[in-house]
Amino acid sequence: MTRNKLLDLRKFVAPEFVFGDGAAGLAGRYARNLGARRVLVVTDEGVIRHGCAGLVLESLAREGLPNVVFQEVSSNPRDCEVMAGAETCLREGCDAIVAVGGGSPMDCAKGIGIVVTNERHISSFEGVDNVPRPGLPLICVPTTSGSSADVSQFAIVSDTSRRLKLAIVSKTVVPDAALIDPRTTTTMGYELTAHTGLDALTHAVEAYASNASSPVTDLHALEAVRLVSANLLAAMRAPHDLEARARMMLGSLYAGLAFSNAILGAVHALAHGLGGLLDLPHGLCNAILLEHVVAANYETAPGRYRNIGLALGAAMPEVGDHSGGRQALLEALRRLTREAGVNCRLSELGVQREDLPELAAKALCDPCLVTNPRPFTIEDIVGIYEKAL
Ligand SMILES: [Fe+2]
Repeated sequence: MTRNKLLDLRKFVAPEFVFGDGAAGLAGRYARNLGARRVLVVTDEGVIRHGCAGLVLESLAREGLPNVVFQEVSSNPRDCEVMAGAETCLREGCDAIVAVGGGSPMDCAKGIGIVVTNERHISSFEGVDNVPRPGLPLICVPTTSGSSADVSQFAIVSDTSRRLKLAIVSKTVVPDAALIDPRTTTTMGYELTAHTGLDALTHAVEAYASNASSPVTDLHALEAVRLVSANLLAAMRAPHDLEARARMMLGSLYAGLAFSNAILGAVHALAHGLGGLLDLPHGLCNAILLEHVVAANYETAPGRYRNIGLALGAAMPEVGDHSGGRQALLEALRRLTREAGVNCRLSELGVQREDLPELAAKALCDPCLVTNPRPFTIEDIVGIYEKAL
């Protein structure tokens, strides 16, 4: 029986957010309104060097709010870093957190907040709806247009002992406020812009194809595909073009609202294993895997993928021509990723054939696989990795 998606029960969770030039400078006022008396600022060395953390620190100073900076965050934030941040937070008596940076500082900050209030190890929150108490008040100031951790109910943390990425999915990790300032992204380099932008594109594609999608998430997902595909290359070529950066930031925001609620799919399930095993950039892993997962999924939801192709600007054939549609969509995805400079195979990043069974076993347990439009066996997953190898 065909599902009537219009009548499916679906909720939509989103934080309060401010979008626009100057949003980062509101951090102090928002922290004050949330009742903060001493703020833990979670960031990383690159964000400090580019001056974005400074905008937040000045804003806190204007409100007379003392703060402590925690910057020991890797590009794939680790469980031990979250625990060290929580220790700093408790020791310094901080009662609110401002995260400034890309997905890594924001995910680390989410982890710190729930560790402090629940007094448990970060690994104990793995899975869906597994955080008993909300974290500390949290404001996110994203400085990349990709992860959307600033609006999502996801926190992804590397489990260093099991060498995998823990996915924590809970309404309790949705920030209290997101201050989304496109100007902060003008400091991103060429490669980071490409990887984070392709991560946003993957969020939109997976949310639209997800079996937990809804009319509300569809609206955001398709518009995100349009915005990212039309503006990614412009943002890469002219990093200080504030208009292109704003459109990318808006695309990332829409993709975040879509995937936080419709969840993701096999691209992320397979990418999490790669990030955990080899510490590879998340957006790069997604960009490499995307076309292979879409190729495997296409027949299950041809109408959905046709709409994605149209949003990408591909010349899609008539409705009903599934093999032509599949080919046109795959070509459009390949063209965009190649033009964004991603043209490598997993083997060039250090993945070996003998790693594949372990990677596939981890992907099979990832919560993102649950909403993929079709089920996969472990052999299917190994097959996808092999195509990308
Ligand atoms: Fe992602």
